[in-house]
Amino acid sequence: MSHIRPLRFIRRGQVVTLNGVAPDRTLLEVLREDLGCTGTKEGCGEGDCGACTVVLGSEREGAVHYQSVNSCIRLAHSVDGMALWTVEDLVADPLIQPTEKSASDLHPAQQAMVNCHGSQCGFCTPGFVMSMFGMYQNHVCKGQAITRELAVEELSGNLCRCTGYRPIFDAAQSMAELPRMQVNEPELLKQINTLKTNAPSGDATYLAPTTFNELLRARAAHPDALVAAGTTDVGLWITKMHKQYAQILDVTRAEELRRITTDAQQIHIGAAVSLTDAFGALVQHWPQLHRFATRFAGMPVRNSGTLGGNVANGSPIGDSMPLLIALGASITLASVRGERSVALEDFYTGYRKNLLAADELLTAIHVPLPVANQQLAAYKISKRFDDDISAVCLVIQMQIDNGVICEARIGAGGVAATPARAVQTEGLLNGQVWSEALATQAGQSLQAEFNPISDMRASSAYRREMLGALLQRFWLETSGTLSKDPAPSLATLQPLEVSP
Ligand SMILES: Cc1cc2nc3c(=O)[nH]c(=O)nc-3n(C[C@H](O)[C@H](O)[C@H](O)COP(=O)(O)OP(=O)(O)OC[C@H]3O[C@@H](n4cnc5c(N)ncnc54)[C@H](O)[C@@H]3O)c2cc1C
Ligand code: FES
Ligand code: FES
Repeated sequence: MSHIRPLRFIRRGQVVTLNGVAPDRTLLEVLREDLGCTGTKEGCGEGDCGACTVVLGSEREGAVHYQSVNSCIRLAHSVDGMALWTVEDLVADPLIQPTEKSASDLHPAQQAMVNCHGSQCGFCTPGFVMSMFGMYQNHVCKGQAITRELAVEELSGNLCRCTGYRPIFDAAQSMAELPRMQVNEPELLKQINTLKTNAPSGDATYLAPTTFNELLRARAAHPDALVAAGTTDVGLWITKMHKQYAQILDVTRAEELRRITTDAQQIHIGAAVSLTDAFGALVQHWPQLHRFATRFAGMPVRNSGTLGGNVANGSPIGDSMPLLIALGASITLASVRGERSVALEDFYTGYRKNLLAADELLTAIHVPLPVANQQLAAYKISKRFDDDISAVCLVIQMQIDNGVICEARIGAGGVAATPARAVQTEGLLNGQVWSEALATQAGQSLQAEFNPISDMRASSAYRREMLGALLQRFWLETSGTLSKDPAPSLATLQPLEVSP
C-alpha cells in the first residue's frame, strides 16, 4: 500500500498528527475509535440526527470561519489543516477563554442547556451543544442576537427524542446573557497558517489539490479515484452501503472552486462552495428563497455539502436543481482538454447519469441575475417540514410584463428519473395573459408532462396532484390572493414562562 499522508489538525491548542488513517475513514471513527473521544455520539450514521456534530475552524479572509458538521459522514482527511472542537474540548481548550468573570467553568453553550433543562437522556446533547457552540461563535461573539427563528434554523439538523425542542431553543437564545467566552483567534490563526505552510507532500490515496490546474491533472491521472466534495452523499455510501474506496480526489481545496463572483449578468458559484454559502448568495438576489434554502437538509449538512455535489450527484429528488433550472443556470465541465458549458437541464442523461467524461469535473454553476418583473417561487413538499428530502419540488419563474408572460421557466424534482424542465408547460404559458384559467390549464399540462413513480416518500397520484396544486398556489400568490408568508413551523414555539 502506498504511503498515506499524515492527517494533522489543531485541537486544544495543539497539533494532532495521526498516521496511517485510511482515505475512506470517517472523522467520527477517528474520534471515537482512534482518539477515544466518545463524547461525540453516533446515532444514525447518515447525517440525519446531529448526535455526531463537531465544529471545524478554518481561515477565511483573515478570520476564523466556524462550521458545525456531521462527523459521521465527513472523511477524516478532509479536516486536515483545520481546527477541530468536540464536546469534550469546550472546557479543555486553552484557546477558549472567559472574557467576563463567571461562576461556571462550562461554556455558555453548555451552561445554557443546564439552566434551561435542555437535556433528559442526554444522547443528543453533545450534538446540540456543538451546534450551539457554532452559533455562539458565528453570532453571539459578533454581537448578533439569536432570534427564535435563527435558533430553529441552525438547530434543524439536531434531533431530540425526549426533551422536546422548546427548552433547547430557550437555551440557544439565552447563551448571549451568560458571561462571555472567546476563542483566542489570533493564536489559532497562527497555528492554522503554520500547518498550511508545513503541509506534507501529497500521497496517492487522498488527493486534495489546491489549485484548479493541479485538480484537473489529478482527475486525468486518476480517473478511478472517487471524486468527493462535502461527502454528504458519498459518506452514506461508506457508512450505510459499506463501500470502500482506496483513492479519493477531494475537490474542495482548490481555491477556484470555492469562489463566488458576480458580474453584470450572472452569479458564478464554484462547484465546491458549500450549500450554506451558495444559498446565501442566491438569497441576496431572491430573498423569497430563504425559507426554501433553510429546508435543504439541516445546518451541518449544508455546511459540508456543496452545490456542485448536489448537481453532480443528480438525484431526481435533489432540491437545488429544479431551482437552478428555473433560474436558467448553466454549468462548466472542465478537464485538461479544456472547458465546456452546458445548460443544467441538458446535463442529465438518465437516472443518476450525466455528461461528465471520466477525466472531467464540474467546476462552476452560473446563474443569470434577476430581471425586471420576475416572479419566482420555490416549493418543497416533504413529510417533515425541516431536514427532510422532497417528495416533490417545483420551482416556477415567470417574467410577467403588463399581465403577459414573456418567459416562463419551470424546474421540477421528484416527478421523473432526473431533475427536469417542464418544457411543454412553459410553451403553453409563454406569450399568454397570466390568469386563473391559464393557471388551471398549466397545472393540467404539468400533470400530463410527467409520469412520477410511487415510492416510500409519496405515491405517483399524490405527486401528480401536487404539480397541479402548486401551479394553482403560484397563481394565488402572484395574483395577491394568498400570502407568501411561510407556513408555521417550530419557530412559532415561544419561550415557556416559568413562574419563580
Ligand atoms: C441528512 C441529509 C439530508 C439531506 N437533505 C437534502 C435535501 O433536503 N435536499 C437535497 O437536494 N439533498 C439533500 N441531501 C443530499 C446531499 O446533502 C446533497 O446532495 C449535497 O449537495 C451533496 O454535496 P456534497 O458536496 O456532499 O457531495 P459528495 O457527497 O461529496 O458528492 C456527491 C456526488 O457528486 C460527485 N461530485 C462532487 N463534486 C463534484 C465535482 N466538482 N465534479 C464532479 N463530480 C462531483 C461525487 O463524486 C459524488 O458522486 C441530504 C443529505 C443528508 C445526509
Ligand atoms: S450520527 Fe446521526 S448525524 Fe451523524
Ligand atoms: S435528551 Fe434524549 S434524545 Fe434528546
